[in-house]
Amino acid sequence: MNESEDHKSLPQDADYSGPLIEVRNLTKKFGKKLVLDKISLSIEKGKTTVIIGPSGCGKTVLIKHFIVLQRPTSGQVYFKGRRIDDLSERELYGVRTHFGYLFQEGALFDSITIAENIMFPIRQHFKGVKWREAEELVKAKLAMVGLDGFQNYYPANLSGGQRKRAALARAVALNPEVLLYDEPTTGLDPIRSDIINELILKFERELGVTTIVVTHDMKSAYKVADRIIMLHNGRVIADGDADHIRNHPHPTVQQFINGQVSEDDLAVLRMSGTLATSQFLPRDFQ
Ligand SMILES: Nc1ncnc2c1ncn2[C@@H]1O[C@H](COP(=O)(O)OP(=O)(O)OP(=O)(O)O)[C@@H](O)[C@H]1O
Ligand SMILES: [Mg+2]
Repeated sequence: MNESEDHKSLPQDADYSGPLIEVRNLTKKFGKKLVLDKISLSIEKGKTTVIIGPSGCGKTVLIKHFIVLQRPTSGQVYFKGRRIDDLSERELYGVRTHFGYLFQEGALFDSITIAENIMFPIRQHFKGVKWREAEELVKAKLAMVGLDGFQNYYPANLSGGQRKRAALARAVALNPEVLLYDEPTTGLDPIRSDIINELILKFERELGVTTIVVTHDMKSAYKVADRIIMLHNGRVIADGDADHIRNHPHPTVQQFINGQVSEDDLAVLRMSGTLATSQFLPRDFQ
């Protein structure tokens, strides 16, 4: 693909049958710290891809590259076959309307109501939208997540699970083609987590969205995923369906999915235990 082809407008669905999102040799460094190390992968349209991996391994950084909220140190990002990592913020604005995202921090605006939160992206992208139409849209989106009637509540007056659902309603406000969820079930009890899983499946079914979920929650991963990708030390170390991951021979994959501490980590813990004992216990107790 040459440079001028790269920057043509997005192809219509009928013309394009390649991967929806693709990263090629994606490397991201922060200063000297290497976070993503020449990652290449493609995300297929209409599927749910789950990204797992230990805390700090680069999951959030990777999905931020999909919408170019982070720029690669080297390598490229493509959306529908068009290179996007080198677009200007202004050009990216249009690309990002194809995406809905639920950030790890949840990020509802605290000082405005739930209805105003959901209207926010609608008003930003459709400047001429009539108040009445926007209200109807908000009602429909809140109904999808079981929160119609909560329009005039402030985020602080909702439970954690309700806030996540309201944030989901906002993520689907613009009828996106792709939904990115960053740890959607973190901090929720098992029942509330399962409600979020069901909503992820419902959006996939009813809106036909392509879904990407970052999670630590293996129960959720197994429930929603068509494909699971595990990141470790800046690279993809496992990639396949739930059974492929369950039966994966790599010890790091098994330790992660079974929640076991590795021998290396245990050695560090034993070491710090010895230090703590010698520093804080009186001699008689040693
Ligand atoms: N803007 C930034 N500046 C410097 N370092 C960053 C920045 N964003 C992320 N990092 C570093 O990149 C690494 C990966 O971060 P990232 O947030 O992607 O981890 P994660 O896999 O999402 O972890 P968690 O599961 O805890 O959310 C971390 O070491 C983090 O400190
Ligand atoms: Mg993260």
